[in-house]
Amino acid sequence: VIKMKDLDLANKRVLIREDLNVPLKDGKITSDARIRAALPTIKFALEAGAKVIVMSHLGRPTEGQYEEEFSMKPVADYLSELLGQDVPLVKDWLDGVEVEAGQLVLAENVRFNVGEKKDDEALSKKMAALCDIYVMDAFGTSHRAQASTHGVGKFAPVACAGPLLAAELEALGKALDNPARPLVAVVGGSKVSTKLTVLESLSKVCDQLIVGGGISNTFVAARGHNVGLSLHEKDLIPQAQKLMADLDIPAVTDVRVGTEFSETAVATVKPVDQVLDNEEIMDLGPDSAQVMAEVLKGAKTILWNGPCGVFEFDNFSKGTEVVAQAIADSDAFSVAGGGDTLAAIDKYGLEDKISYISTGGGAFLEFVEGKVLPAVDMLEKRAQN
Ligand code: 3PG
Repeated sequence: VIKMKDLDLANKRVLIREDLNVPLKDGKITSDARIRAALPTIKFALEAGAKVIVMSHLGRPTEGQYEEEFSMKPVADYLSELLGQDVPLVKDWLDGVEVEAGQLVLAENVRFNVGEKKDDEALSKKMAALCDIYVMDAFGTSHRAQASTHGVGKFAPVACAGPLLAAELEALGKALDNPARPLVAVVGGSKVSTKLTVLESLSKVCDQLIVGGGISNTFVAARGHNVGLSLHEKDLIPQAQKLMADLDIPAVTDVRVGTEFSETAVATVKPVDQVLDNEEIMDLGPDSAQVMAEVLKGAKTILWNGPCGVFEFDNFSKGTEVVAQAIADSDAFSVAGGGDTLAAIDKYGLEDKISYISTGGGAFLEFVEGKVLPAVDMLEKRAQN
């Protein structure tokens, strides 16, 4: 693909698609990770003397409607602060935007436009008409074939990959395409069903697989243990058994259980074969966490998605913490992705100890599944002609 860094941006109208879909609470940004990740790209374009328009979606608003709760206003204000320059938010940007060289304007939520989500051609052309160079930098939305991530790139005079997108693809490629071995994957989260294709594709490339959270409970049940009231998926036990036959999946030997799903629930450590009918597994036990940590010690590459227990409850956060710490302490090339995973990294203050933290949630998983990312596919096609 063509890279933004190789282009002369001076005085060019540069339209950058970022993923600034940040979590908000009462109008306040609760994690600025995606904004910080996009910042070097934006700064690079500004310093190169480009006339910069940045666009992004925020949440999932009703199409064709302005809804204040999905306005990019908090992001514009935040960017102004970080950059130390005024970042105007433009509502009717499709009609044309005035920008000076070295200036930045933020377009209002792309999903307010009719046709964004269905990759409408007329809308894509309108966006393309705003620029000399289109920069696709929104890795987190690269799995969506939408007007601002895909269609616009087909019609813009030049379409290229921004530095963040390029870095994401390089880091994920390094972990999955030709990894230093052993490659150990850690997949946690609540349900096997939502991660089944991820688990299946990882089973083809990784040497060992650590499963955590509700996913792990289905594997515990697949080994013939009672899981009581634990979150698990009975109908996926055959798939779990097949994965265990194909791959080295270290067994859970002890667990932390509670009798209610709540912040104040008391955690009891017990062997995995002694879970009672009224108990719920909510975390790995200390021995199991130690086994997983040992496995991670030997890894040369680590791919991590999903917590190992109900880490948001302090009584059930130890398993995730031990595993996260083992990943952080390891010399392996480690890549982490997904919203809950980032929240866990944040909780334990391990940002600087993971080799690469992806900004992608769904996009990260689709990359791991080996799916074609439509935005990347478009850039590859544009590079060929
Ligand atoms: C994400 O948060 O995963 C991306 O911003 C994509 O958002 P979407 O799932 O609403 O397309």
